[in-house]
Amino acid sequence: AASTPPSPADTSVTDRYAYAFDIDGVLIRGGKVIPEAIEAMRMLNGENPYGVKVPYIFVTNGGGKTEQERCIQLSQQLEMEVSPGQFICGHTPMREMAQKYKTVLVVGGEGEKCRHVAEGYGFKDVVTPGDIIKDNQDTTPFRKLTEEEMKHSRARNFGECEIDAIFVFADSRDWASDQQIILDLLMSKNGRLGTRSETFDEGPPVFFSHNDVVWSTSHDLTRIGMGALRVSLEAMFLAVTGKPLTTTAFGKPQIGTFEFATRLLQQWRKDTHGINQPPDTVYFVGDTPESDIRGTNEFNAKAENTWYSILVRTGVFREGTKPKYEPKVTVDTVLDSVKHGMEREY
Ligand code: G3P
Ligand code: MG
Repeated sequence: AASTPPSPADTSVTDRYAYAFDIDGVLIRGGKVIPEAIEAMRMLNGENPYGVKVPYIFVTNGGGKTEQERCIQLSQQLEMEVSPGQFICGHTPMREMAQKYKTVLVVGGEGEKCRHVAEGYGFKDVVTPGDIIKDNQDTTPFRKLTEEEMKHSRARNFGECEIDAIFVFADSRDWASDQQIILDLLMSKNGRLGTRSETFDEGPPVFFSHNDVVWSTSHDLTRIGMGALRVSLEAMFLAVTGKPLTTTAFGKPQIGTFEFATRLLQQWRKDTHGINQPPDTVYFVGDTPESDIRGTNEFNAKAENTWYSILVRTGVFREGTKPKYEPKVTVDTVLDSVKHGMEREY
């Protein structure tokens, strides 16, 4: 929940429409701000010909840090304050599973960061691949833990513990060893390492925080992401066991993520602007047709035509190809997306 109380004097805030932004490929690329993003935010904050302020939230599939940390970073990049009350990342909805699964394997991200995120969500017993390698170094023949990893990893006898679920929180930094460990668990008896199931259907469930096969970062061309790891893992499980593997992905384009975003936006508009009714239009600005545009369009069909998809050309989607999922409009940059929405409104 947001901390700033609504300011009744601020009548310049519109209650009719709002914005939701994807981050990578729209506002940020490879850790650097896309210059037009700063001006786009200024426009929404009141520097526009209409003298209006427009509420907005951020919905990214990315992750690997706490929401708090990510907002501090985004505030610096965008030169304005971003609050966790207006921010969702890929793993945010995983919070709701902390009561259901006790011992969980958390995969991805830098160092111990994702373990801390998961513990912050209330997961009781969080295991990382490093813990497993520390317990048995033969787990990954070509990967030895660094001194730093040795220091932080928490060894225990994994032959005596059952891992209830696997959560891929952020991009794997070492596909080979992470996949080996996930595969070991999937082929085990009830998530007990060192055992092999005869039926290969008693391993723990696997959850990914999103399903983007590619994403937009500092390289000119798109780079493979978490969705690629998912595809790879499913293919590998089939190759090794002869059985199909079913996994679950959160994030966009899942309808649940857009429902979550709707609740967040509602709370944000209420807490910071004192607005109590839902907006007529939410402009969603994204760069990935398969996640952002598909999700917005499918959700729009359920949400009484209130979500409006805008595709930008600064990320995954590039001119020359036809987007797999058609947006309401395609524009060059995030700044054009803000101008487009505002012109449409007045
Ligand atoms: O890893 C993050 C990436 O796949 C997408 O992030 O902000 O474009 O949803 P975003
Ligand atoms: Mg994106």
